[in-house]
Amino acid sequence: HRPWQGIIEEYRDRLPIAHDTPVITLREGGTPLLPAAHLSDLTECEVHLKIEGANPTGSFKDRGMTVAISRAVGAGSQAVICASTGNTSASAAAYAARAGITCAVLVPSGKIALGKLAQALVHGARLLQLDGSFDDCLRVARELADTSPVTLVNSVNPFRLEGQKTASFEIVEALGRAPDVHCLPVGNAGNITAYWRGYLEENNRIASGRPRMCGFQAAGAAPIVRGEVVTSPQTIATAIRIGNPASWDLAVEAREASGGLIDAVNDREILAAYRLLARREGVFVEPSSAASVAGLLKARAAGRIEPGEQVVCTVTGNGLKDPDWAISGAARPETIRPTVAGAAEALGLQRS
Ligand code: F0G
Repeated sequence: HRPWQGIIEEYRDRLPIAHDTPVITLREGGTPLLPAAHLSDLTECEVHLKIEGANPTGSFKDRGMTVAISRAVGAGSQAVICASTGNTSASAAAYAARAGITCAVLVPSGKIALGKLAQALVHGARLLQLDGSFDDCLRVARELADTSPVTLVNSVNPFRLEGQKTASFEIVEALGRAPDVHCLPVGNAGNITAYWRGYLEENNRIASGRPRMCGFQAAGAAPIVRGEVVTSPQTIATAIRIGNPASWDLAVEAREASGGLIDAVNDREILAAYRLLARREGVFVEPSSAASVAGLLKARAAGRIEPGEQVVCTVTGNGLKDPDWAISGAARPETIRPTVAGAAEALGLQRS
């Protein structure tokens, strides 16, 4: 058994990578597909979690970034730029560092989780904070890339979605076919588009079947559900705090073609799912990632997912990215005397 090589080498024949394209990889992909016993009991479905927080920079963005940065370097680019709610910037910064090129990131001021900020800085990216939303950042990044010698590595870069589609390949391989339902959070709507593309390609290749694609936006940032741009999106799920998704039409197409749905889950539902994942499944995700599970619970309760169905929920990012949120929501540490007696007393243990 040869070690996992990263998604470009594993799926080279299904990606837009020529033999002479340099491969910039952190050996991303190959993430766990984890059976979720508690969620399966709760929903009477067979639920699996695709743990994308296990990627090198802690989110699914690495799958797209390895392809986008490899192509940028292959084309002679010396600098990349992106707008981000945090994870794209962390990933771009890491892959640019590995490639030895410059990276600039535009983020909404005060609206990205601390761990993601730390990642962009530690990898040496130029971190520009902008007094505005993600949507404002993306507009600026796009225009700058159009008018200056920097390559845009947001998911409007077609190579990003090509890389991200490989998660569907891994799921089909693990299950032996496509699941009945696939749930995931929706922000800029690139990932739902990429997964759908991956499932379609697998179905053409090996008749694996196709899932119903179920995407979930945060209620305060749900333009696709509402059918209109949200000018001032609000949610504690900062990664998906987006009011005008770039891949809006493609996400609607995935929903229509698959017979799926795009719905909203509120912050309370997102946090309940976040705690359930941590406490009952042992899986620590960032709040935005829990939108897929919150959505599963909501859709199941509404009868839009049936008992007995096989469901995959993508959990998109690692919980350590957002330590402030994790600590503020959890129980407090207790301080004790530095003795065995002190510990035993705090834990209510009888000592012999
Ligand atoms: N989950 C996480 C943890 C994310 O970081 C994102 C997007 C999504 C879900 C939504 O995916 O945009 O493809 O619909 N984060 C982007 C960023 C916007 O800048 O890191 P999407």
